[in-house]
Amino acid sequence: MAAEKVILVTGATSGIGRACADLLHGQSHIVYGGSRAPAAAPPPWRWMALDVANDDSVARAIAQILAEQGRIDVVVNNAGVVYAGSVEDTSMEEARAQFETNFFGALRLCRAVLAPMRAQKSGLIINVSSLAGLLGLPFQGLYSAGKFALEGLTESLRPEIAAFGIEAVLLEPGDIATGVVANRIRAAASGEGSAYRANFEKVVALFEKEETAGAAPAMVARRVASLIAARNHAVRYTTGPMPQRALTALKPFLPSRFFERCLMMYYGIKR
Ligand SMILES: NC(=O)c1ccc[n+]([C@@H]2O[C@H](COP(=O)([O-])OP(=O)(O)OC[C@H]3O[C@@H](n4cnc5c(N)ncnc54)[C@H](OP(=O)(O)O)[C@@H]3O)[C@@H](O)[C@H]2O)c1
Repeated sequence: MAAEKVILVTGATSGIGRACADLLHGQSHIVYGGSRAPAAAPPPWRWMALDVANDDSVARAIAQILAEQGRIDVVVNNAGVVYAGSVEDTSMEEARAQFETNFFGALRLCRAVLAPMRAQKSGLIINVSSLAGLLGLPFQGLYSAGKFALEGLTESLRPEIAAFGIEAVLLEPGDIATGVVANRIRAAASGEGSAYRANFEKVVALFEKEETAGAAPAMVARRVASLIAARNHAVRYTTGPMPQRALTALKPFLPSRFFERCLMMYYGIKR
């Protein structure tokens, strides 16, 4: 790969994606950043209209990058939305919308870049998962499910593409102070009349408090930049606040019911 890389960051106008695009641009890479709506002020890197939930939009964006640069070295699959609601309160339409962006969006991008990456015999796909892709968060079940699915997809993809000189890695942030609090979508049935309302409100309030006090998006961006500079990646990397990462790392070593009780206690959920 050339030192100056052609990089696409999805969801680049806010939070983690914005921090990644800014940092990578500052490192002299050729950065394309995609989102559905443009940033309020024009960014220094190349913004492009991109809806990861739309086949044609993804195909157009990749075709444009290949036409302009002749290659695509790195894709940071970062675009994401967060639906909150109990599993029962989340409608099938809401569940599909959650997966359409966070899981199928990343899958769409992977499928669109693999052929050009195979032809150039190199490439790196960074799939932005979450610590919520390692443990199921109450009242964000569909979000967690989408990230668990992304984890499985990435594990399956890696051995398939190794022979072509392409790598895929998972990046799992804990709480990061981004637009996530303002942009969280509450399931329509989670309001008044929901049997889950009291616990739902308590848990979402705690999510919001922790996200607001979370690590800076620049921390994730530095991790992304170091992954792009490195050769031979592990399957997954966590980033963000250390206590959350440490707790998640303990999960496989603790009895499952004990871990679940700790999680319920932490969120103030009673039996
Ligand atoms: N913040 C956290 O605590 C945290 C923790 C773990 C993982 N993550 C993950 O990090 C990623 C970024 O989240 P963030 O916290 O930075 O969120 P954010 O501040 O809300 O930014 C989300 C970005 O994604 C874009 N986006 C949403 N839907 C899109 C679509 N269909 N197509 C293209 N772009 C789309 C948004 O722009 P438009 O709306 O204009 O399209 C925006 O630029 C997500 O995958 C999230 O799950 C976040």
